[in-house]
Amino acid sequence: MKAVKAKRVIVEYGAEIDPQDMIEPPDAGTLELEAGHPGLGDKGYVARRQQLFALCRGHRLNRLGPPLIGYTAEENRIWREVSPKLDELHCQHASHIYLDAKRALGISQTEIPQLRHLSEQLKRKTRMHLVPAEGPLPYRTFYKYIGERGFPVTQFIRHGSHPEFTPEPDMIHDCLGHVPPLMDQDYAELLTLIGKAVSATQDPEQVLALKRFSWFSIEFGLIEEKNEIKVFGAGILSSTGEIPFSLSAEVERRPFITDEVIATDYDPSRMQDLLFVIPSFVFLRREVEELVKRFGIAVKA
Ligand SMILES: [Fe+2]
Repeated sequence: MKAVKAKRVIVEYGAEIDPQDMIEPPDAGTLELEAGHPGLGDKGYVARRQQLFALCRGHRLNRLGPPLIGYTAEENRIWREVSPKLDELHCQHASHIYLDAKRALGISQTEIPQLRHLSEQLKRKTRMHLVPAEGPLPYRTFYKYIGERGFPVTQFIRHGSHPEFTPEPDMIHDCLGHVPPLMDQDYAELLTLIGKAVSATQDPEQVLALKRFSWFSIEFGLIEEKNEIKVFGAGILSSTGEIPFSLSAEVERRPFITDEVIATDYDPSRMQDLLFVIPSFVFLRREVEELVKRFGIAVKA
């Protein structure tokens, strides 16, 4: 009797998902602020977000690069309130690779930076560039750009009523979390390889594995430097709460073992109490190369 092939089940964030969503992610064409978003009842904020959504989506889809934005006094005020607090924590706890890059980029603590200018600096240093994003993009869409050396970044800022909180990635998360490490060549190459692999595979389990690999490194990674644990993940670096929490006794920190990482589910809606520590970006780059080889994904040079 012919064996019936078991239906593949994919679990993400503790729930079963449609495996096809990993391969063909939905593309939201309109702004959607989730329930509980601090800006929901503020008509001016919602209108501004809709305006930036349309502008950035148009620039992304038409491959025009980041538009120059005239930020309002209120938007700059929020930046000015949050970025010095983060900078103080970065000086104490961020990886030196991150700190050196942040200084080299000249990111101001008083004015929201223009992504177009940051993008030009990245191009010169590591051949990466920034792609304007209207909001959070689905994982495979996001990494398809990265496979072409483009990192999608938002150009809006959180609501002023809660300057230290955002339920979605915004410019503070992107510019103060994601952009500086893109100045490091090993980091740029390992990211690009993940992007190429995610674009090339048609296997939803492989996409999910690479997504978990990214989550526990690019978003929530820790690195050991001179016998000290430092932060390099953007999700930690962009939160005044997550930085001290990630190094506290409440968090379990394990060595970064790829097979363990890709088998670990997580919940993005709460503070992360399990983190992995890498020894270097060179190590992380080799781990991605090995994983992609083991998966049998043929990537273009
Ligand atoms: Fe992120």
